[in-house]
Amino acid sequence: MTLKTKAAVLRALGEPLPYAQSRPIKIEELTLIPPGPMDILVKVVGAGLCHSDLSVINGSLGRGLPVVLGHEGAGEVLEVGSAVTDVKKGDHIAFQFAGNCGRCKNCQAGKPQLCEAFMAARAHGGLMSGGIHFRDANDEPVKHMVGVACFSEYVVVHRGSVVVITDELPLTEAALFGCAVMTGVGAVVNTSQVKPGESVAIFGLGGVGLCGLMGAKVSGAETIIAVDLEDAKLKKAMELGATHTFNARDPDLVEKIKDLTDGGVDHAIELAGAIPAMEAAYAVATRGGKVVTAGLSGTGKSFSINHGDLVLGEKHVCGSYMGSCVPMRDIPRFIKLYQSGALPVDALIDGLVTFDELNEGFDRLHNGTALRQVLVPHGPASVGGSAKVQEGVPAARSADV
Ligand SMILES: NC(=O)c1ccc[n+]([C@@H]2O[C@H](COP(=O)([O-])OP(=O)(O)OC[C@H]3O[C@@H](n4cnc5c(N)ncnc54)[C@H](O)[C@@H]3O)[C@@H](O)[C@H]2O)c1
Ligand SMILES: [Zn+2]
Ligand SMILES: [Zn+2]
Repeated sequence: MTLKTKAAVLRALGEPLPYAQSRPIKIEELTLIPPGPMDILVKVVGAGLCHSDLSVINGSLGRGLPVVLGHEGAGEVLEVGSAVTDVKKGDHIAFQFAGNCGRCKNCQAGKPQLCEAFMAARAHGGLMSGGIHFRDANDEPVKHMVGVACFSEYVVVHRGSVVVITDELPLTEAALFGCAVMTGVGAVVNTSQVKPGESVAIFGLGGVGLCGLMGAKVSGAETIIAVDLEDAKLKKAMELGATHTFNARDPDLVEKIKDLTDGGVDHAIELAGAIPAMEAAYAVATRGGKVVTAGLSGTGKSFSINHGDLVLGEKHVCGSYMGSCVPMRDIPRFIKLYQSGALPVDALIDGLVTFDELNEGFDRLHNGTALRQVLVPHGPASVGGSAKVQEGVPAARSADV
């Protein structure tokens, strides 16, 4: 049986701001082709608005069009394909934005976040099982963002794009674990491997960065320095356990952090998606320290490192994709930490939004006035909430910082 689903479709990149006026995201009724043998049909209950969606909308991350957006979310399984044996109808799942096949050389090496089958599927905008399951009103295919496309009432995804989770937590909160939590906490605990007593500096305090900060706290870091352009985000960071904060516009930022940490931090983590943040992170890392970056500043962007400084300083510079997570191990682990109060992820959710408010939601993310807004495709009443974004994280981002 084919299903109809309301979904958020992007048909053009780089439309002008504000999106409240240009309205690049169109809400369309699409047809959903039923799951193949290795696929799953999911009712999406909550889906986070992440900067990576914004970077597709504004054109800084290239993507094939048209595409259904969304890559961070959670929902309930409605149907499983004939070859799926370990997920069943009624299960709660969180999507993982980098799916894995379990068979390729990177999956076999214990690095499912680098799955080759996923990268191939990501490139053509389909599922790892090969197909594109959305059709528009003209019966033309509409791609799936990273095989998830969860800005939709219903989605078909490959088995390897979901993790079964406990049904003890609301799906609007579970939504954040598939991207912000895995990326931010994972960058700190998996990629950089922060140890008790060490010093950490986090650059960028959006949904991903504040998860990184929580990860540093849970790891027992003694000094946790939080850096952002927005003072309101610095305040939030203090509430969540930062020991020191700095505004990234401070001309003496690097010297001040080095002075504070006796020459530099053990771990400098770039979670802003901005080259100046990457440069500052590299500069504040101590000799022998680690520089980890999960920010995505845009296709084709690069930064340079002084060769001699890298050698003499023996700095370790490392990329981090999906927090170097093994999702079936890490999502349940991070959910347990959330339930124990050690990872207060719900503190990042500053509102539920409906399909009709998605364009405005991305304006707020661009302006820095929202942290993690959660789309409720079936409406706020479906999750017992009200669609309202808290205002009050002021100040616009300066393009040249
Ligand atoms: N590697 C991955 O697997 C992965 C996964 C998800 C998101 N991302 C990327 O992580 C980044 C953060 O995502 P988010 O959703 O938290 O974004 P966000 O927009 O919510 O937060 C980004 C924050 O960085 C701050 N910032 C900008 N320039 C800065 C600078 N020079 N110094 C310090 N702070 C600065 C902004 O003020 C903002 O608070 C994005 O680039 C996103 O694409 C990567
Ligand atoms: Zn994301
Ligand atoms: Zn694989």
